[in-house]
Amino acid sequence: MNQEWKNSMRLRVDMNNMFDDYVGSGNGIAAGDVEALIPALKAAQKSLQAARGTGMLGWMTMPYEQEEIVADILDAAAEIQANFDTFVVLGIGGSALGPTAIQFALNHMRWNELPKEKRNGKPRLYVEDNVDPERLAALFDIIDLKTTAFNVISKSGATSETMSQFLIIRDALIREVGDDWAKHIYATTDAARGNLIKIVKAENMRMFVIPDGVGGRFSEICPVGLLPAAVCGIDIRAMLEGCAFMDEICKNDDLFQNPAMLGAAAKFAAMRKGKNISVVMPYVDCLKYMADWYAQLWAESLGKKFDRNGKIVREGQTPVKSLGVTDQHSQVQLYAEGPHDKFITFIGVDRYRNVMPIPGAYEDIPDISFLGGHTQNELIQAEQTATEFALLKQEQMNRTITLPEVNAFTIGELMYYFMMETAYTGELLNIDAYNQPGVEEGKNATYALLGRPGYEAKRAEIEARPAKSDRWII
Ligand code: PA5
Repeated sequence: MNQEWKNSMRLRVDMNNMFDDYVGSGNGIAAGDVEALIPALKAAQKSLQAARGTGMLGWMTMPYEQEEIVADILDAAAEIQANFDTFVVLGIGGSALGPTAIQFALNHMRWNELPKEKRNGKPRLYVEDNVDPERLAALFDIIDLKTTAFNVISKSGATSETMSQFLIIRDALIREVGDDWAKHIYATTDAARGNLIKIVKAENMRMFVIPDGVGGRFSEICPVGLLPAAVCGIDIRAMLEGCAFMDEICKNDDLFQNPAMLGAAAKFAAMRKGKNISVVMPYVDCLKYMADWYAQLWAESLGKKFDRNGKIVREGQTPVKSLGVTDQHSQVQLYAEGPHDKFITFIGVDRYRNVMPIPGAYEDIPDISFLGGHTQNELIQAEQTATEFALLKQEQMNRTITLPEVNAFTIGELMYYFMMETAYTGELLNIDAYNQPGVEEGKNATYALLGRPGYEAKRAEIEARPAKSDRWII
C-alpha cells in the first residue's frame, strides 16, 4: 500500500449542509459557532495527544503497536480455519457490535449461506449478543458443535449475558466432544481483571488480551474485532493501516485540516442549538451494521449525567440507525417534515463493489422504462442526492461522509474517524467519554435479582421500590 493509494482512499466529510448559509437561517449553525470552539479544541487536542496510549486512550496507539499480536491472531485464525467450519462470537455491546459491523461491511453479504468453497474455506460467522432463550436454541439447530469454535469476548470477564452463554456452550461441548471441549473456546479478555481470565488459565484455553485503556466500544481495533475478522479472511493489517492513516490526519490541530475535529465542533454546536438526535444513514447496504456500532459509541460515550467536575449536566445526543434507501420509505418523512431537532449523517461511496445494470423493457410505460439503461448504482446515488436535497429544502441539517470505496483500509479509517470525533466531542462536553455508570447500574441490579453474592444491599434497594398501582396496569 503506497502513500498515493492511501491518499486516493481518503474519506471526505462534507459539512456544508450543517451551516445556516445552506440549510437556512436559524436551523443550522454559523461558521462563528465552530470558530468559537477553536481554543477549546486546541486544548482538547493537546490533552488527547499528550495522553495517547495512556489511561483510557489505549485505543489511540492500537493502529501502530500490534504487529506481534496480529501475527498471533493470524496464527490462531489459521488454526481455526483448519479445524472448524463455524466460528461463533459470544459477547455483547462493544464485544459484539464491531465484529458484526466489520464482517457485514467487508465480506460477502450472504457469507454464511455461501458454500464453503465460495468462502475460500473460511468458517461461517455468528455473533450471539443476546440472551433471549430462543437465540442459542436456534443456533444449536444450525451448527455442529464438533466443528464449531467459540470466541468468548468480555473485557470485564463478568458480564452475565456473555457468561451465561459461555456456561451453556461449555456444557453442550462437554456433552458433545468430552475432554476436548476447551479446545473449541478462544477467549478475549483482560489480562488480569475479571473471572474469565481465571477460567482461561484453569482450563488452559487459548486467549487474546484486551489491553488496558481500551474500553468495549473502542475495542474493535484490538483482538476483540481483529480475531473474528481474521478468521473470516479480512485483511486486518489493511484495517489497522486505515486507522493509522486517519490517526495521522487527526494529529493536526488546525480545525479545518482535521475532519474529526471539525465534525465534533459542528456536532457540538448543533447540540447546543437543540439538535438532540443524530441519525446515521448509510447509502451502502453493507454498512448498515456500522450504524449500530456508531450508535453504541456515540450513546454510551456521551450520554452522561455528570460532567468531570461532578456537576449534573445530562449530556448526550440520541443516535438513530437508518439505512438508505430502505428507510426513505419509513423514516424520511419524519426527517423532512418533523421537528428541527436532529441532523443526519449520510454515508456514501464513490464506487460500489458491484455494478448492477437495469435492463430496458416496457417502452410503452415511460414511468418504468426510464429506468432501463441506468444502473442500480446510479439509482442509489441519485436517491442519496435527492434525499439530501429534500432535507435541505426543509431546513434539516445534514452532512455526508463519502468513502471512495468500501475496503478494509477505508473501514479502518471510518471507524477511527468516528472514535476521534467522539473523543473530541467528549472533551468539548467536559464529560468522561469512557465510562458507562448507567449501564453498570443495570448490570448490578441483574446480579442482585439473580442472587449473586455481595449484591444483597442492591436487592434490598430494588425490593424497596414503591409498589405499582393496579390503575396503570390494564
Ligand atoms: O462499551 C462498553 O464498555 C460496553 O458496551 C461493553 O462492551 C459491554 O457492556 C460488554 O462488556 P464486557 O466486554 O465487559 O463483557
